[in-house]
Amino acid sequence: MSLTDRIGQLREFFIQELSQSGTAKDLESLKIKYFGKKGSIQALMLELKSCTKDERPVLGKMINDLKVELTSHCENSLARVKGEELNKRLLKEVIDPTLPGRRQSLGRKHPIMQILDRAIDILISMGFSVKLGPNADTDYYNFEGLNFPPDHPARDMQDTFYLSGDWLLRTHTSNVQVHAMEEIEPPIRVIAPGRCFRNETISARSHVFFHQIEGFYIDRNVSFADLFATMEEFWSKLLGEKVETRFRPSYFPFVEPGLEVDLRCTSCRGKGCRLCKQTGWLEVCGAGMIHPNVLKKCKIDPDEYSGYAWGMGIERLAILQHAIPDIRMFTQNDARFLSQFA
Ligand code: DAH
Repeated sequence: MSLTDRIGQLREFFIQELSQSGTAKDLESLKIKYFGKKGSIQALMLELKSCTKDERPVLGKMINDLKVELTSHCENSLARVKGEELNKRLLKEVIDPTLPGRRQSLGRKHPIMQILDRAIDILISMGFSVKLGPNADTDYYNFEGLNFPPDHPARDMQDTFYLSGDWLLRTHTSNVQVHAMEEIEPPIRVIAPGRCFRNETISARSHVFFHQIEGFYIDRNVSFADLFATMEEFWSKLLGEKVETRFRPSYFPFVEPGLEVDLRCTSCRGKGCRLCKQTGWLEVCGAGMIHPNVLKKCKIDPDEYSGYAWGMGIERLAILQHAIPDIRMFTQNDARFLSQFA
C-alpha cells in the first residue's frame, strides 16, 4: 500500500476510533496513540525518509494536514465530553439546604478571667493602675517585708511552696505592695491581680493555686474613711447595685488595724440562707491600714504617709456569684461547665 493510501487509511481508523471513545480517559489514550512521540502520525513521518525528494514535501504536507485535522477533532470531542462529565458530576452534587449546618464552637473567657477583668476595669476607672508582681518571689517580699514575724504559721512548710534558696511561690498578691513601695514614690494607687499558690490538699474548697486582686493606696492623710468609701464603691459597682458592707476586726501582720470585709448577702439580702450560712453576710476580702513597719521597711515615712490595702480571692467571688459547688471545676477544663459562662 502506498504512503498516500496509508495516510487515508489512518484517517478512517482514527474517525472510527474517535466515534467509539466515550470518555475523557478514552480520548486521552487516543491522543497518545495517534499524536504521541511513538504514535501513528510520527510513524508515518519516519517513513518519509524512504520517499523520493519530490514526493517528500507533498506527502509531508499531507501528513501535517492530517495531524492538524485529527487534532482538532480530538480536542473538540475532548471539550464536549469533559463538559458532559462535569455536568453529570454537578447534577449529582446538589446542595441540600435542609441539612443542618456545621456548628462553629467559639471559645470564651474563663469565668475567673471574666470577674478579674471586670474588677480591673472598675478599679482602673476609680484611679488605680495595674502592677503585675512576680509569681516566684523571695521570702522578703512575700513575708518579711510585710511584717510577718519569723515564726508566723503562714510561713510553715504546709502553706508555702518553697523553691531553692530564698525563693518561693507567692502565697498572696500582697508581695506586690512591697515591690511597688520600693519602686514608686507616693502617692501610690495600685492594684495587683494575679495567681497565688498554697501547698494545701486539693478539695472542693481549696486548691493549690487561685487568683487574688490586691489593692492599695498610699498618700498623705489616707484614712480609714477612704478605705471604707473605696470598698463600698467598688463592691457596688462590681455587683451592679448598692451593697451594704460590714467591717470586722481581724489580724494580718501587714495591716493595723486589720479587717475582714463582709457584704450583705446577695442571695437572701440578710435574712439568712445557705449561701451565707444563715449569717446574712458574705465575707469577701481582707483589708486594713498599712502597718507602719511595712512603710518603714520600704523607706516611706509613716509620720508623713499612710495607706490602706485590701486583698480578695477571685475564685471565692465566682463561687458565690454562680453558686459553684466545687473549686476544682475551674481547672478541669470541662466544656460543659465553661460554656455556661457566656
Ligand atoms: N494577703 C491576704 C491573704 O491572702 C489578704 C489581705 C488581707 C490583703 C488584708 C490585704 C489586707 O491587702 O490588707 O489572706
